[in-house]
Amino acid sequence: MIAGQHSASERALILAPFGRDAAVAAAVLREAGLMAEICPDLASVQRECERGAGVALIVEEILQEDDYSGLARWVDAQPSWSDFPIIVLAQRGGGLERNPAAGRYSRALGNISFLERPFHPTTLVSHVQTALRGRRRQYEARERLENLRAAITRQQQDQSHLRLLINELNHRVKNTLATVQSIVAQTLRAAGAPLGTRDTLTARIVALSKAHDVLTNEQWSGADLDEIVGQALQPFRLGLGEARIRTKGPKVRLEPKTAIAIALALHELATNAVKYGALSTSEGWIDFTWNLSRGGGPRELTATWREVDGPRVNPPTRAGFGTRLIERGLAADLNGEVRIAYPIDGVVCTIRARLDSEDDRPSAVEPKRSRPAAAASEEPMREAAPPT
Ligand SMILES: Nc1ncnc2c1ncn2[C@@H]1O[C@H](COP(=O)(O)OP(=O)(O)O)[C@@H](O)[C@H]1O
Ligand SMILES: [Mg+2]
Repeated sequence: MIAGQHSASERALILAPFGRDAAVAAAVLREAGLMAEICPDLASVQRECERGAGVALIVEEILQEDDYSGLARWVDAQPSWSDFPIIVLAQRGGGLERNPAAGRYSRALGNISFLERPFHPTTLVSHVQTALRGRRRQYEARERLENLRAAITRQQQDQSHLRLLINELNHRVKNTLATVQSIVAQTLRAAGAPLGTRDTLTARIVALSKAHDVLTNEQWSGADLDEIVGQALQPFRLGLGEARIRTKGPKVRLEPKTAIAIALALHELATNAVKYGALSTSEGWIDFTWNLSRGGGPRELTATWREVDGPRVNPPTRAGFGTRLIERGLAADLNGEVRIAYPIDGVVCTIRARLDSEDDRPSAVEPKRSRPAAAASEEPMREAAPPT
């Protein structure tokens, strides 16, 4: 706030164009150290109010005879913090209780008080000081409001900056995965690694990348389990048909870490099913269902992968990378446990994950569900056919 504005906002405007009333009132106020400014008419009062004023003193005769609708409009249009005080210098015997027009004035001009003439100088000074005190409170409220608005604007700018950073990071993670995929493929080719190994690795990186896509679309606020499941199993369904992989469960929101862990687990399970299990024959199929337990504590997710009508299972003689990834690495990320059993009629994998309660989870950025995949989708990774 500049100095001129500040002093203008403390002024007492005086409209008393009869005799020496205005000059006397101004002299009394100045004597008391207050700023007083004499106005010739209502239009000039309104003009000065627009520049900034602390209080206005108006003789009642003016309100009786002149059109004060302009001032009333200014009063009406005040910002929410402002309630401009007006002291009506009433005629003798015309105090608030006895003045029938009092109600009309206050309805039109708002914060009105009456001071009956003739008044003692100290009465005038105390009335004006009281009005100015109230006005200063209003200025304080204005300042607090402005600070609040500035803080909100700053916060919004910070948020959009953060969103930009996240988008940039998503983009880079995606590109890095694509680069890793290409380095791995070329290195393995140069080393003469079998084609199957290359495909297995590529498929794993693609599975990871797909889970990232789902999370990127949700601004990494989390993901819905059914979307993660759909994304992870889609390549297998495409190759074998929808009916071979049946999934069912309630809507569950997952935090990013859990979403990625489950996506990778499903990829390994489906790959094994194609290699050794129910998806290796034409009759077998997968039943993947999940449930949520809602006790008093954290929510717990139980998901079961069951292979049905597949070939007879031989208990494995060794644990490969897939089994190790699922049972050890992912169990830690799931904040729970993963068990794979090999009954003779089909593999059963049980996943248990403790989910954070939604309220506990901090989220830097609001999810934007309707937004299409951000920069991440610019360079889609080549999809590897699931190894068969
Ligand atoms: N769905 C399944 N049905 C039957 N046997 C399976 C299934 N999944 C895994 N196995 C057995 O478990 C072993 C370990 O699997 P895994 O750890 O994924 O290693 P890999 O896939 O490299 O063989 C497999 O070699 C296989 O004998
Ligand atoms: Mg495997």
